Amino acid sequence: MTYLPLQSSTAHWITRCFLACVFIVITCSGPVSPLHAPVSTGLRSAFSATQTSSVVGGKQKSVTFNRLMVNIGGDFNPDTGHFRCRVPGAYYFSFSVGKFPKKMLSVILVKNGKEVQAIAYDDYRKKGRKVQSQSVMIGLKEMDTVWLLLQQSPQYALYSNAGPYISFSGYLIYPDISTASYINNHLSSPGLSYPICPPQADPLASEKPRSAFSVARTSTLMGQSSRQQDKPPLTFDVEYVNIGGHFNKSSGLFTCHFPGAYFFAFTVGKHPRKAVSVKLMTGKGEVQAMVFDEDTSKRREMQSQSLLLSLRRGDNVWLYSQQDERYAVYSNQGRYTTFSGFLVYPEADAFTPPTNQDRTHL
Ligand SMILES: *[C@@H]1O[C@H](CO)[C@@H](O)[C@H](O)[C@H]1NC(C)=O
Repeated sequence: MTYLPLQSSTAHWITRCFLACVFIVITCSGPVSPLHAPVSTGLRSAFSATQTSSVVGGKQKSVTFNRLMVNIGGDFNPDTGHFRCRVPGAYYFSFSVGKFPKKMLSVILVKNGKEVQAIAYDDYRKKGRKVQSQSVMIGLKEMDTVWLLLQQSPQYALYSNAGPYISFSGYLIYPDISTASYINNHLSSPGLSYPICPPQADPLASEKPRSAFSVARTSTLMGQSSRQQDKPPLTFDVEYVNIGGHFNKSSGLFTCHFPGAYFFAFTVGKHPRKAVSVKLMTGKGEVQAMVFDEDTSKRREMQSQSLLLSLRRGDNVWLYSQQDERYAVYSNQGRYTTFSGFLVYPEADAFTPPTNQDRTHL
């Protein structure tokens, strides 16, 4: 700050007023202002790390990391590969691992040492190198730990080099808030939430609408020829998180309640001797993104895809696996097949019910 030589109390008063005004202007300038973020790392937690060396199974239990890109809050320890939860809430984790030539690949995201969350797998024992990815959102309590478990056998190995094949990232999407305040937030008028700033400068994370789901399948789905024209959604039996209850795992449908921009990610397993074709669908069956592998070899492996979509209230999103005998989606208790989605940015008027039919789509 500039040194001010004026000594009189009036000058001080003017300076203070000026600074206060600047502060108010900056604070009210919009939700992107850094002043809206918590002052400390209080409600923030994020990490991303990579490993530049290969790892052979049996030598170590968890995947460790030698390059740390981001560690906001300091919750991740690259030497042990363990993330330890400080802020309870819903976290999104994603990882990619390289398959070592002539070895198999199996890496499981575990919680508290043993609870299996999801797997990245490839049993193709040929020479090729490849990367497989997986991601899920899970709810964590304080002191919960999350890390990547390696298969304890030298038949398994991870490949990497200076251009890292191995990466692990995680970040807090929604910190936990009490059910009572959550319900209150939904009933309160956004205009009353912060008396100084305009309503769109909503400063509290807990005031924002929340929507997130993450689910997995523990069984295979074989494609069946059918003459039906409809494209039935892929259903799920494991629910990691379902904030707002907007995903129905028995129907496989996500229904948008808060208009805005949503992130979706899915990973599916390829069944031995079957091809895989899974599409992210909206509306009356519009395909937004897909994974595909027409290799009908014996091997099991994975395919991943992700996308942001602008959704309106009532929009449905689901996964469709090609209904044909040549296709299947593989999964088992290792949870190969996962589907996650969450609200990234709500539309400004998310709390106001739509009145015009011709409202502009985001
Ligand atoms: C979820 O989907 C199933 C199957 O379509 C349906 O029977 C059930 O009523 C749905 N649940 C809710 C809460 O909508």
